[in-house]
Amino acid sequence: MITKFIAPEIIFGEEAIQQTGESFLRLGAQRVLIVSDPGVAEAGWTEKAIHSLTEASLTYISYFEATTNPQVKEVEKGAQIYIENECEAVLGVGGGSALDVAKAIAVLVNNGGRIEDYEGIDKINKPLPPTIMISTTSGSGSEVSQFAIILDPARKKKMTIVSKSLVPDIAIVDPFTLMTKDSLLTAATGLDVLTHAIEAYVSVAATPLTDVQAIRSMELAERYLRPSVASKTNLEAKKAMAMSSLQAGLAFSNAILGAVHAMSHAIGGQYELSHGEINSILLPHVMEFNFIAAPERFAHIGTIFCKQEYSDRRIDYGRTAIAAIRNLADDIGAPKTLREAGLKKPDYELMADIALNDACMVTNPRDVTKKDIEQLLQNAY
Ligand SMILES: [Fe+2]
Repeated sequence: MITKFIAPEIIFGEEAIQQTGESFLRLGAQRVLIVSDPGVAEAGWTEKAIHSLTEASLTYISYFEATTNPQVKEVEKGAQIYIENECEAVLGVGGGSALDVAKAIAVLVNNGGRIEDYEGIDKINKPLPPTIMISTTSGSGSEVSQFAIILDPARKKKMTIVSKSLVPDIAIVDPFTLMTKDSLLTAATGLDVLTHAIEAYVSVAATPLTDVQAIRSMELAERYLRPSVASKTNLEAKKAMAMSSLQAGLAFSNAILGAVHAMSHAIGGQYELSHGEINSILLPHVMEFNFIAAPERFAHIGTIFCKQEYSDRRIDYGRTAIAAIRNLADDIGAPKTLREAGLKKPDYELMADIALNDACMVTNPRDVTKKDIEQLLQNAY
């Protein structure tokens, strides 16, 4: 079997943002489009990146209009600004949303057409301009991944774009940035990380290289997600969750995801709900469904999440893992059902249709029918 593992250069550590300017110089770019969102800009992180760019005598254009569920028009506007201002490189600063917009802009400026043309797997033909992604939320893994998720409001659909061209040249992860996140966002993004690691670990495309990343990500989340939600200033927990997110990103970028993300994208295209919360609600249901496809893998997950509580007893670790995931989500205040998360009058059939065709469904370990998805959504409602 041939395995591939794609990863960008990764700069990780406190104050890593200060390396932004020097990194662009190494990539040979002089004029940078900075893509971010108003919240991240207000927290001061884009300012730090700009400071580093100006110290390196680089020029920049700001585009801070990315929204939580970024849409096609945000990508088109950013691409227009890039072209009008003759930029040469793209810097994303923010959570998954801002970074996905930044990467999608980089696709359009070198490939032309509409961003909808690149939906699916491996549709991008021309290389992107130099890209650097600074992650400030520790959740999406977008700073290292082959993914960009963009909402097409015309079809009420979250498009999954997968291509190795979307892997940035350089990923910058600075755990300090996590200290401005509130507990709600920390919980939601942390649960997204956990879902990335678990889906990548049981994916049919998992390899020894992705397994190491997924397992370490789960170990860190098991130990540090609770304390990270509990305190903004616990730097040890922030560092650990930043690494957990990064490693989950490397795992799922290469092993892809599964039914949780396929369904979550389907729901997120129709309703304005938190991606991490939807994932955490769906995750135990999908784990139960997928269990028979990879019992040994679920048992291993069980050893990670249950080692303290059950070390002396012979138990079915796989099933206990599912209960442990529910407990963790419970402890950090995540909603238990889709109804509780704000989903109103779900159209199960429509969502099942969309989920079945999402690129993430391809690597789910168990075959999934439309009826299965409808049932899983009903169970989670
Ligand atoms: Fe995700």
